[in-house]
Amino acid sequence: MPVFRRTNRWLLLLSSLLLSSILLSACGEQSPSIIDARGFVAQQEGFVFWVILVIAAVVFVGVEGMLVYSIFRFRERPDSVNPRQNHGSLALEILWTAIPTFFLLVILVFTIRGLFQVAPDAQPADSKTVNVTAIGHQWWWEFHYQQYNITTADTLVIPAGTVVHVDLFSNNVIHSFWVPQLTGKTDLVPGHDNKKWFKADDDTVGKTFVGICAEFCGAQHGNMRFEVKVESADGFQSWLTAQSQHAATPASGSLAEEGQKIFQGAGACAGCHGIVGVNAQQFIDTAKVCDDSNPKDLNNNECPLGPNLTHFGSRGLIAGGVLDNNSSQCNTDQSASDLLANCNLAKWLHDPQGVKPGNDMAIGQLTNDQIKALVAYLESLK
Ligand code: CUA
Repeated sequence: MPVFRRTNRWLLLLSSLLLSSILLSACGEQSPSIIDARGFVAQQEGFVFWVILVIAAVVFVGVEGMLVYSIFRFRERPDSVNPRQNHGSLALEILWTAIPTFFLLVILVFTIRGLFQVAPDAQPADSKTVNVTAIGHQWWWEFHYQQYNITTADTLVIPAGTVVHVDLFSNNVIHSFWVPQLTGKTDLVPGHDNKKWFKADDDTVGKTFVGICAEFCGAQHGNMRFEVKVESADGFQSWLTAQSQHAATPASGSLAEEGQKIFQGAGACAGCHGIVGVNAQQFIDTAKVCDDSNPKDLNNNECPLGPNLTHFGSRGLIAGGVLDNNSSQCNTDQSASDLLANCNLAKWLHDPQGVKPGNDMAIGQLTNDQIKALVAYLESLK
């Protein structure tokens, strides 16, 4: 009997460990969990997950239950006789072929149903559909709004309750577009343009969802993130209006104006980044311009290396999602050392390779004064 009691204690310890790990895994506010689906596509995908989980749980409990029961009930005793042998029993062979077949058929039916529900062909007709091209760079996301000719980076703004159609483009390596709470993963394959659609629930206005690159794409794959901000229909319209404007012009004699001059200086930012109204005439559809099969218009439409910064100050993330754009900490009245300690943009400009090793930011070491002026300028581009 003491052996059994010790086993009991171990079982208790194991199951409480398992239970607490399940409970704790639900913690963390920003956890982008597929079981907290907030849009039609993710909900259908989540449903298939639950079907499989429930069936797997039934099978697990059934099989393990029989196993544990048999171990104790039929364990060898001093007076045991040999049990009845049923090797080659046709009835048993049929039974344990039929039961898994049935379970797998149920999973197959729900999986195929789910595939058809979220397929590109199932995209609902919606006159308000927003068409976006998502472009995968190493390592950041660019978004081009096809109907409005607006280009942003790191932050995808969408209206709630509206179909968002996404064309996926890459001209480098394979990336994968994933917003766990809104839609499952679809790869961006060079030379093969995939598409997908999704929709955020009506009650998600004001929410921000985590977006992730879900395909290994190089050293900073894990730091290739974006965010999806959901707006009301009106909020989205005002956002579009603001984003389609040229960049704000800094006041004459201001620190921001100095920043703009540094931005445009020889060998500086403007070689890779566009700002509409400063060094670019308009937003460009990178997917078209960067497609090697298209001839390039070298006047204005070269394939840009870095994100368009026209409305940089309005974005929630910078540096391909590695840092929050904490503009409230970027007041340029503070000392240079405070600015470097508090303001993420200043940290990024000071040491881009330290923040995100291997990225394409190839600026030389900027002085603290240059960083201050650039922070004042870029954060003013709302
Ligand atoms: Cu892009 Cu991983």
